[in-house]
Formats: sequence, C-alpha cells, structure tokens
Amino acid sequence: MIIARTLEDLKIAREALGEVNFVPTMGALHEGHLTLVRAAREAGRPVAVSIFVNPTQFGPKEDLSRYPRDEAGDLAKLEQAGCALVWLPRVDTMYPPHASTTVHVTNVTARWEGATRPGHFDGVATVVAKLFGQIRPKAAFFGEKDWQQVQVVRRMVADLHLPVDIVPVPTVREADGLARSSRNAYLSEAERKAAPALYAALTEAVKAILAGKEVAATLHKVRQDLAAAGMTPDYVALVHAHSLEPLAGFKAPARLIAAAKLGTVRLLDNLAVSSQL
Ligand code: PAF
Repeated sequence: MIIARTLEDLKIAREALGEVNFVPTMGALHEGHLTLVRAAREAGRPVAVSIFVNPTQFGPKEDLSRYPRDEAGDLAKLEQAGCALVWLPRVDTMYPPHASTTVHVTNVTARWEGATRPGHFDGVATVVAKLFGQIRPKAAFFGEKDWQQVQVVRRMVADLHLPVDIVPVPTVREADGLARSSRNAYLSEAERKAAPALYAALTEAVKAILAGKEVAATLHKVRQDLAAAGMTPDYVALVHAHSLEPLAGFKAPARLIAAAKLGTVRLLDNLAVSSQL
C-alpha cells in the first residue's frame, strides 16, 4: 500500500497505478468505510482512499478539534482491506494561502443539513472537487448514510462535467439498526442504548407510508418516537430522493430523512421509501 503525503508523492503513485476507484474519508475508519473500500475493489480497479479532516465543512461551533483521529489504526485497516493508495494531505496542501475557489452547489443544498449547517456543503463540494482533481478516479464511492451529501456530489459532478462515476453504497448498520458513524464514538452508554430508536422509527414510518397512512401524521409519529427515546428531532421529512424537496404525499423516488440530537451527538439516518426495505 502506497502512502502519499505530498502532491509530488501522489503524482508518482497515480502514474504507477493507472485507473483507480476512490473512497474519500475523514478517517476514524469503521465498518461503513471498509464496506466502501470493498465495493470500490469489487468494481475492478485499485482503490485510492483519502484521509483528510476537512476544516471547511465544519461550522464555527462544530466538532473539528474533537473529531476522532486514528491515523495508525486507519492505515492498518486499509492495508488489511487491500487498499492500494492512501492520500494523507496536509491542510495547507488542500488550502494554500492563495487558494480563492469555493464550489457552491445550490438547490439541493438549500434544506436539511444545508439549512442546519450553513457553509457545510460548500466545504464538502470544494474538498471533493479538489480530491477528484488530485486523484482523478474513474469512480468514487460514497455512503448513503449521508444521503444529501451524495445528491450534492452528484449534482456537482453533473454540473461541472467531471469525468467520475458516483457510486452510492447502502448504509452499514450495527446489529440493532444504528447506522455506523464516526460520531457514534461520542455516545454515552445510555445514549448508545437509545440511539437505535431513530432507525426503528424510520422503519415503522416507511411501512406506514407504503400502507397508505397520511404522510404528515406519520412524520409526527416519528418525532414523537424520537422524543420518547430522549432525542430532540432536528428534521424528519419525506423528500424527493434526488432534489431533496419535501413531498406532501408519497411518490417514488422518495426518501425518508431525519436528523436528531441525542445528548451532544447529532444522529443522521435515511431510508428509501420502497418495499425493498
Ligand atoms: O463523508 C465524509 O466523510 C466527508 O464529507 C467527505 C466526503 C470525505 C468530504 O470531506
């Protein structure tokens, strides 16, 4: 496995490897990331993974400084997963002092995470565009847990005619349904026990919507279930799966998306509203 920390090293590694598939990450790798790496391998090219805790996608009150970091552990997991190249850039490589370009995607960023975390998707779109320019992958793999992020990246790639296929990969869950996330490490024991209520409420709601129950009443019930589990719902919405615009009634392709605060941790989850649950 090649480890590149400078643009010079990356250039040599990229020339050696030919076409690659790519998994961008912020490190603190868990089974969800390793599933992305496996999917990228199975798609038939050597896999490049980036580890970069991107400062521009964190708000001023967010958890950049306490974001979990474990470079040695991450490298061991990637080696084991058969990764060919790890790109570990420094902040001033990604954002040199003279850098003056931000990628701003409109519409699909207007609501949900975009509304709660102003500037977040500018940070994501900008760093992903830079990483695509550096790695030049044929395909890039993103977890569906961050459903809105996947739609933002797809929009950016389409709008900028970037020659990379975006491949969404289904969310990896714990045995009790909790979506895998680096931020789960912040949950206390009691919170960890309460956290699967989010997936449980969404699963029930998908069944209810498919059974023809009114959408507003179903979303209200999800909020009640989350509150009963000690969570403060941020949003719970039925949306068009790609535009992220809210749907008053069920019409495919639809996605049920939610974010809720549990203690200091913001949990995100989403499900397809289809009988393939
Ligand atoms: O999903 C993430 O971990 C990040 O948002 C990404 C795509 C690596 C960009 O920093």
